[in-house]
Amino acid sequence: MALTRRVFLGTGAGALAQAQSTAPSDRIAVGMIGVGSRSHELLEAIKQVEGTEIVAVCDAYSGRVDRAIERTEGRAQPYSSYREILDDPSIDAVTVGTPDHWHRQMVVEALRAGKDVYCEKPLTYAIDEGLEIAAVAEKQAKIVQVGSQTVSSDSARELRRWIQSGRLGQVTMIRVAYNRNSPGGAWIYPIPPDASPETVDWDAFLGPATKRDFDLERFFRWRCYREYSGGIATDLFVHACTTIHFITGAVMPSEVMAAGGLYHWKQSRDVPDTLGAMLRYPQGFMVHLSSTFNSNAFGGYLFEVLGTEGSAQFGRRGLIFRPHPEYDNNAWIVGGWPTALEEQYYRTPAGRAELQGLPRPEDETYRDTGPNSTLAHLADFFFAVRHRGANVEDAWIGHHAASCAHLINASVDSGSTARWDFERHCAAA
Ligand SMILES: NC(=O)c1ccc[n+]([C@@H]2O[C@H](COP(=O)([O-])OP(=O)(O)OC[C@H]3O[C@@H](n4cnc5c(N)ncnc54)[C@H](O)[C@@H]3O)[C@@H](O)[C@H]2O)c1
Repeated sequence: MALTRRVFLGTGAGALAQAQSTAPSDRIAVGMIGVGSRSHELLEAIKQVEGTEIVAVCDAYSGRVDRAIERTEGRAQPYSSYREILDDPSIDAVTVGTPDHWHRQMVVEALRAGKDVYCEKPLTYAIDEGLEIAAVAEKQAKIVQVGSQTVSSDSARELRRWIQSGRLGQVTMIRVAYNRNSPGGAWIYPIPPDASPETVDWDAFLGPATKRDFDLERFFRWRCYREYSGGIATDLFVHACTTIHFITGAVMPSEVMAAGGLYHWKQSRDVPDTLGAMLRYPQGFMVHLSSTFNSNAFGGYLFEVLGTEGSAQFGRRGLIFRPHPEYDNNAWIVGGWPTALEEQYYRTPAGRAELQGLPRPEDETYRDTGPNSTLAHLADFFFAVRHRGANVEDAWIGHHAASCAHLINASVDSGSTARWDFERHCAAA
């Protein structure tokens, strides 16, 4: 497969060490827009990057703000809205951790306000939004880091080396599965008991979405509704696509075929709870993505890269390499030949090799000992903010990964193949 070599600066442990060696007077002031569940993880990670200080937080549910201030030991101030954060010239960078339907507007406004932006995945809610974000980021010369953090792991870089060095041979298939079997896994999250119109700003949550009556399920379980989320494709598959593009150098699939169904959690959502997609890449490989929320299979998560010389399995904290020896066994074929011809076959080099057999090489394990990927990803972002250099997951990369998810949903909705328009929707080469 034809792979593009890319050089990424400031990724991983090196960036972390350098970000941490900053003088206190030279701190990057961070505002956090939306401090929900994921942003509390980001907050804890940002606290470990010493050149940064979280100075502002805002959220549409007051309980989240209180907890974020508590986590910063009172150093962050509550701001009444994201616009108040953007209007504050002392803030250098913002994180955007709101539901997906808000991302475009908040990211674009933040860039125009002169902020660098770490936006959670998926970067967009619809394909064209990515073009706008990338254009504004370029015009403003601001950094956008998109939050599919796996690409900042040592494992992802190692797997990329394996693929690009030819260790796996010709890669023709990558398959990824996310399976769950619990209410939380199916996004039916607990709702805080104090949630009410007094603590929840419903209009702030809705923002650009369709006006609706106050609804705590929509507010706290927004992934279940198409008005705020692309469901499994934008929540889970976007991570896989980001990683696949990173390890292969591919930009986008040319065609996407997908189908989904809502089979089990029918009362709680309008997006599928079961989804399968095939993505065909012009470099000459296919990707199979699948997910069900109705069984957790064996461990729930699978990421395999299948090559002619070997396969790789990507785990949460490492990789497994399984070499494939060129070993054939045609006994069941030649066993149906006339005896003399079968005996003749086993006198040929191929037949002799089959009789002899080959020792099967052992699997090899690569253990990831680097920093956790969220911390490394944030460190990469802040390193780029400080040094105005390249970062690992910019707006174009986020646009492409999110667009894979949007094509998947388009294919599900239309029942036909969705095609990518490389001319219209990709960066100029
Ligand atoms: N990278 C990852 O591994 C990862 C993991 C989980 C979630 N995420 C992403 O993070 C984002 C948030 O997901 P989550 O699980 O934290 O959801 P969440 O519902 O816990 O958090 C979203 C927060 O945004 C707030 N919000 C909504 N509208 C707002 C507004 N106008 N102004 C300020 N705050 C507003 C909500 O009150 C809520 O607290 C999503 O884009 C999601 O896909 C990424």
